[in-house]
Amino acid sequence: MAKLCATARLALGLVAVAAAADEQTCADGGDSSPVSQDGSSGAPSSLGQKGGSNARVPMKTDSDSGFHARLDRSIWAEQLKRSVADGAKHSCESDVVSSAFNRPIGLGNRIHTFAAHLLLAVYGGHSFSIFNDTSTGKDDMTRIWAMHFENSAGFSFCRGDPPPLGNKVKLDWDFLNGHLSTVDREYQDDFKRFLYPLVWTVNSNTWNRVHTEWRKAGLDVSRPYVGVHLRRGDKFTEASPVEIGAYADAIRPWLESSNSGGRARQGASLKDVVGEELGARKIEQVFLCSDDELAAEELQTALGNRVRIVTPNARPSDTKTRSYDSEESILGVITAVEGLRRAHVFVGTASSNLGRLVFFLRPKGSRAISLDRGGQW
Ligand SMILES: *[C@@H]1O[C@H](CO)[C@@H](O)[C@H](O)[C@H]1NC(C)=O
Repeated sequence: MAKLCATARLALGLVAVAAAADEQTCADGGDSSPVSQDGSSGAPSSLGQKGGSNARVPMKTDSDSGFHARLDRSIWAEQLKRSVADGAKHSCESDVVSSAFNRPIGLGNRIHTFAAHLLLAVYGGHSFSIFNDTSTGKDDMTRIWAMHFENSAGFSFCRGDPPPLGNKVKLDWDFLNGHLSTVDREYQDDFKRFLYPLVWTVNSNTWNRVHTEWRKAGLDVSRPYVGVHLRRGDKFTEASPVEIGAYADAIRPWLESSNSGGRARQGASLKDVVGEELGARKIEQVFLCSDDELAAEELQTALGNRVRIVTPNARPSDTKTRSYDSEESILGVITAVEGLRRAHVFVGTASSNLGRLVFFLRPKGSRAISLDRGGQW
């Protein structure tokens, strides 16, 4: 049975190759593999057949052949259903048991890792479930994800021993993330746009709280706005805590001069980019999300009085603390992401997990400008 399915899917994959005649290549080699941060390693092996899955072509073979067997977009949904249904059957024995939420990292990073595990499962035809780790007493999967987001795909939860498949997941993800984006970046981006709403759809209770935060901040969602996500650059977060004066200096380059080095926005500063977008679209509102208290004032001064800068109270402390222990900081991230994904124009940085999350949650082709990584999301 499994073999038949594999054959059928391979055939479908080949049809997909014929359809995808104009492959685009992209220099971006998928620099941001969230899973690799596990630090796990091991001898190369193909993903286990453990959960009685309908695994397709082994990932390494698929990767070596330039992903010629890649799934046609039209069967992603069907494949997702199968991965989830198989995950319900096999629970902790599933091929991919995502432990993304048990890692002590920022919410954005956890969501990316969760989505990466799901992509791996769906792409590879593997069963998928979520690890509900109650052993540490933290149970972040329940406290954070189940509390704020819809489980619209109907994922099942495994409550048992920690899943032993981390290495295999990581190795296959390296093939997928490292090579697929090089072969067909648009395909991978589309796949992510298909999957991200399944890991990030805010439930109605949290949605009401987000609306309250927007109202308190003074965001008028009935009118267009430019969404800006501004944070300290990595250089500053890696260093010892920066005092506020130095921090203001650190942020100034974003406003006044180029910090991007990107070909798309060569020489453009945050002030220029936001100013242009506001002018071109006659927008007078900026929804600014930053972990910096002074950012709003600086941007206001730079842009002048005709622009209204709106900042939510609950701040995403994306780079300050990575623990997300406080409910307020979780709500801060959600408020930011929900606001930024709906902005007419989004200006942020591709180096930020939050920035990339917003990018994948926005409609394809909507205006999103990255001020770093050469303008590439
Ligand atoms: C995880 O397990 C705990 C303990 O059994 C349970 O209370 C919680 O509801 C579970 N979470 C999910 C999301 O199923």
